[in-house]
Amino acid sequence: MLSHEDNELLTRVDGEAPMGAYLREYWTPAVRSQRLIADGAPVQVRLFGEDFVAFRATDGRVGFLDESCPHRGASLALARNEDCALRCIYHGWKIDVSGTVVEVPSEPADRLADMADKITIGKYPTREAGGVVWVYLGVHDDPPAFPQFPFDKVPADHVRALVAETHCNWLQAVEGTLDSSHVSILHQAWLGQSTGSLGKAAEDSAPRYESDETGYGIRFAAIRHCGDDQHVRVTEFVMPWMAYIPTGDEDRVAIIGTPIDDEHSRQWFIRWNDDHPLTEDTDTHFWYRDLTGAPDDFTELVRGRGSWGQDRSLMSDGHFSGFTNLILEDVAIQESQGPIVDRSKEKLGTSDIAVVKTRRLMLDSVRAHQEDGTVFGRKDPLARPGTAGVAITIEATGDWRTAAAGEARYV
Ligand code: FES
Ligand SMILES: [Fe+2]
Repeated sequence: MLSHEDNELLTRVDGEAPMGAYLREYWTPAVRSQRLIADGAPVQVRLFGEDFVAFRATDGRVGFLDESCPHRGASLALARNEDCALRCIYHGWKIDVSGTVVEVPSEPADRLADMADKITIGKYPTREAGGVVWVYLGVHDDPPAFPQFPFDKVPADHVRALVAETHCNWLQAVEGTLDSSHVSILHQAWLGQSTGSLGKAAEDSAPRYESDETGYGIRFAAIRHCGDDQHVRVTEFVMPWMAYIPTGDEDRVAIIGTPIDDEHSRQWFIRWNDDHPLTEDTDTHFWYRDLTGAPDDFTELVRGRGSWGQDRSLMSDGHFSGFTNLILEDVAIQESQGPIVDRSKEKLGTSDIAVVKTRRLMLDSVRAHQEDGTVFGRKDPLARPGTAGVAITIEATGDWRTAAAGEARYV
């Protein structure tokens, strides 16, 4: 349970909210790379309650600018994308990838140099990794070092990103990802289809948690009885919003919950395989089935269908949740908690320990940032989990820390 004040501090990101200022200091996933086509349509991107436009220039570079035209505020999402610049279709002002005004046809030619000098438009540095464009929206002129994501090292056909735009606060997405005990309940319909870790999670719905703080966040182990052995799902939380969770199969997944604004979030699912291209089963796998047709917001497939598309007839036939897909179950539950869940009314138990520890780290971190600008993890910005999340079955007397360390492949 949290006080109302702490809940506000943790969740609000719009305007001058301290959490918004803190989160902006991290590289933020913004738009799928494939959505930006050279000289193609610019894309509106809302982050932290502010509106931006992303586009790919003629030469392949990505521009990321404030959405409003500096002249009189027309949306640059409507602009023409040509000659490595956006041309506002209202009066034709042209702004290049670097945010410089390079043409003002509505003014005498001799005024261009002076205007270009004086007019500024917000422009932001970007990087591409894992099929995603990441942006830095913080206050510093020089962006922080870009993280060394394991999915950044594989060929393009080894990695795929899917996004859901959810009608709820970003922290609900992050907390849902870290909460291992719901796997055995909410996702039980799929457990039997998994020969790996998810199948083993079915055997014990009340895991015991252990955790270690790390330089980049927290390592959580959810420990379940599994016959005479123990099955351990190790999730790596990387501040401030990313979790590598064990899939239990040979593909890997990172889930990231980022704020669109106080009451909306963008949840990223980046799945990759180190050794070979993602196979056909990406389209039939119970995580992704039926969703890959709407990769930029798969919730649009169920919006307007009531109860997030839950099918009661499926439930009558024995399906537990009535959802035809595992990640839709998560999204529906997170939205059902309300736009910003009131954490002062919760009744928490021992299985909520991962959520509690994460909130504590978040609160400490946002307060430290308020005090002196400290950004958690910045001392060693390139640190990353060596395993990116693993599931291991070990003897009842075994040590999961040693066993997990033996699985490391990203050090
Ligand atoms: S509003 Fe964009 S050129 Fe006038
Ligand atoms: Fe889930």
